[in-house]
Amino acid sequence: MIDAFKTEVANGLNSNPKTLPSKYFYNAIGDALFVEIMNLPEYYLTRSELDIFKNKTEDVINALQINLNSHFDLIELGAGDGLKTKELLKSLVKQDYKFNYLPVDISSNALHLLEQDLSKTLPNLSVKTQQGDYFQILASLKENNTPKVILFLGSNIGNMNDERAAKFIYNLGANLKPGDQLLLGVDLIKSKAIVLPAYDDSKGVTAKFNLNLLHRINEELDGDFNLNTFKHQPEYDEKEGIAKSYIASTIDQTVTIKAIGKSYDFKAGEKIHTEISRKYNDALVQKIITNTDFKLTTKILDSKAYFADYILTRH
Ligand code: AVI
Repeated sequence: MIDAFKTEVANGLNSNPKTLPSKYFYNAIGDALFVEIMNLPEYYLTRSELDIFKNKTEDVINALQINLNSHFDLIELGAGDGLKTKELLKSLVKQDYKFNYLPVDISSNALHLLEQDLSKTLPNLSVKTQQGDYFQILASLKENNTPKVILFLGSNIGNMNDERAAKFIYNLGANLKPGDQLLLGVDLIKSKAIVLPAYDDSKGVTAKFNLNLLHRINEELDGDFNLNTFKHQPEYDEKEGIAKSYIASTIDQTVTIKAIGKSYDFKAGEKIHTEISRKYNDALVQKIITNTDFKLTTKILDSKAYFADYILTRH
């Protein structure tokens, strides 16, 4: 893990322009900051998808065309705290659907907390936590013949570029069987006035989240980034529909990372690209599923039409 981190940081800072991978946001500090982000007034994404799961639960269940009498597996990739999913789970349990809930996460701690919470709030729900890599777990589940519904929520797909997103969906399809379904939650392209503040909140939580990458490099790779001379700099172009996060150096400076054994020069204003958050429309969803085994079945919007849950069926 440390070796991969070191290699990716070294490659990213050697690139021109400089980059750092957003997956390294998520250590204990980053996880806690992301929970704070999800509760910020500017970060509409979580509330919008919760609106769908709370107020359009029946639409979701009907679109999935699940048979009340046959058994299915509901598999959530990157379950987190399950806030949105709990709304769907409550409805399914109440209506006596026959299913197992399989939350998949790389963090066994997150799974343990979710399991504890669900045992209190939904004691009759069958929960089978799965710790590990999404595709390894899906491959191991492919052998059983239980129909599957995969949840990939929160616009997590948006943190991948279009090529990677297409590959990701393709790989999901390769690990599923005909008739299985994917519920894909995506943030929709909309005005800069709405999107940009979600990545530039007034309390500065997103700034801390982004700069935590430099803090991690200091802690784990013995770097000497001075966090006071770098700033969070988000951008959003409504035509392109991608929010981009950068860390910009505010002065000319040199940073040394001892574990890599190298120093890096920064010009004042020079940026490190740390994250993309792609926003979608129908054409872009269509584009990423074109060469996959999925076809688009349904689209369910929140009341403000900020966010969409697309239902894709494996053919
Ligand atoms: C996890 N992911 C969908 C978030 C997003 O909106 O791209 C991560 C995030 N980055 C900054 N704020 C939230």
